[in-house]
Amino acid sequence: MEIVLVIGSGGREYELARQMALSKKVKKVYIAPGNAGTAKLPKSENVPIGPVAIDELTAFVKDAAISAVIIGPDASVAAGVGDAIRELRVPVFGPNQAPGRLESSKAYAADFMSRHSIPQPEHWTASTLQEALEIIKDKNPTSYVLKADGLAAGKGVVLPDTGSEAQEVLAAMFSSDAFDGAGKTGVVIQERLHGPEVSAFAVSDGTNIFMLPFAQDHKRLNDHDQGPNTGGMGAYCPVPASIISYRQAVKIQAIAQKTIAGIKTEGTPYKGVLYIGLMLAKERGGDPVVIEYNARFGDPEAQVLLTSMQKSGVDVADLLLSAAREDISHFAVPPSITTAVTVAVATSGYPDNPRKGDEIFGLDKQYPDVIVQQAGTAMDGDKIVTSGGRVLYVTGTGDSVLAASKAAYGALGRQGIHFKDMHYRTDIAWQALER
Ligand code: AMP
Ligand code: GLY
Repeated sequence: MEIVLVIGSGGREYELARQMALSKKVKKVYIAPGNAGTAKLPKSENVPIGPVAIDELTAFVKDAAISAVIIGPDASVAAGVGDAIRELRVPVFGPNQAPGRLESSKAYAADFMSRHSIPQPEHWTASTLQEALEIIKDKNPTSYVLKADGLAAGKGVVLPDTGSEAQEVLAAMFSSDAFDGAGKTGVVIQERLHGPEVSAFAVSDGTNIFMLPFAQDHKRLNDHDQGPNTGGMGAYCPVPASIISYRQAVKIQAIAQKTIAGIKTEGTPYKGVLYIGLMLAKERGGDPVVIEYNARFGDPEAQVLLTSMQKSGVDVADLLLSAAREDISHFAVPPSITTAVTVAVATSGYPDNPRKGDEIFGLDKQYPDVIVQQAGTAMDGDKIVTSGGRVLYVTGTGDSVLAASKAAYGALGRQGIHFKDMHYRTDIAWQALER
């Protein structure tokens, strides 16, 4: 029987822990540090250890006789939590620090793609402000995007409108903490492409891959993709054939395969889930181009992907634990895939000034074809209250995007899940519904 440690505290980690708890092979799930929701999952218990506290995490793994570890956040990957736990000979789902550079350094990722002929935008790297200004000098500011090299909590990419804005952004990236200091080591300037964006996820044991369904994300706070960027206000999967053709899907799968094979030949095999952000670029006749790699599940993409896979008959816990143990060759993609749509419910003021401490109602009821994943929640006595920006995710499933979306939205509101001044988008999965 497995004793699993899940690292992280968001909706993604709630879903990872929920899947572990569903498995007959799992006897106990610890979540470090988890949230008010993960504490209430069956067989589960939170442990107050942060996602990059390597010494405390390794000590806990030994003391609690953990049999496998699942890493949620990018910060843990970049800090080398995977390396430290693998040194204890405990299997880990989540890459080591070196292959994790696909996410933690945009310059490394760009060079990697060049070495392996993986399609990417035209790009230039600069290690000083002077170099960067020289690169953009004769370019139209709307023809490129600016990317801080390091991890910037999703804030490291800017699409400038004017030359002076570009200069200001570059100066700030190189000199200040405005981008979490992610630009201090360098900046990548990329050709700006246009077309639908899709996310691909490949679970890998270092050699083999298992492709999860394609997903689409909704980064902006408000309907019609208006308002500030967030970590993601919703997602759905699978993306229908009206958006990704068979030909495009085959090319994306080839990119995933090439990435996993390439990183293995470089001596740093990738064990975990590889998240590939792609654009079906008009400039390339609709061919998929890699916009970014992430070394982890997306949040909230994990909420739809894992729910969908489980409803489609995949033993998700077994898949992830087998990847950690380095053999997923016996897993087959299911013949028919359940659709899932998740709606992020945030507090008013998110992302800049999130309200906290409001009681959340309706969590004790069951809603047909709905799973609720908690993220920014806390206990206040015996009440569950809001404690942060993205509070929870309402994930609906069904045999179509419309059915899954109706299920999710049906659970929200006065008769269902609600709290004071809650904010959510009403148009999640519009890309698929408008076709
Ligand atoms: P990233 O953090 O790299 O995913 O970038 C955040 C967002 O910026 C993406 O979801 C795209 O909408 C946009 N973006 C990034 N790179 C490009 C590019 N080369 N061309 C156009 N848009 C881009
Ligand atoms: N939802 C986007 C991300 O997790 O990066």
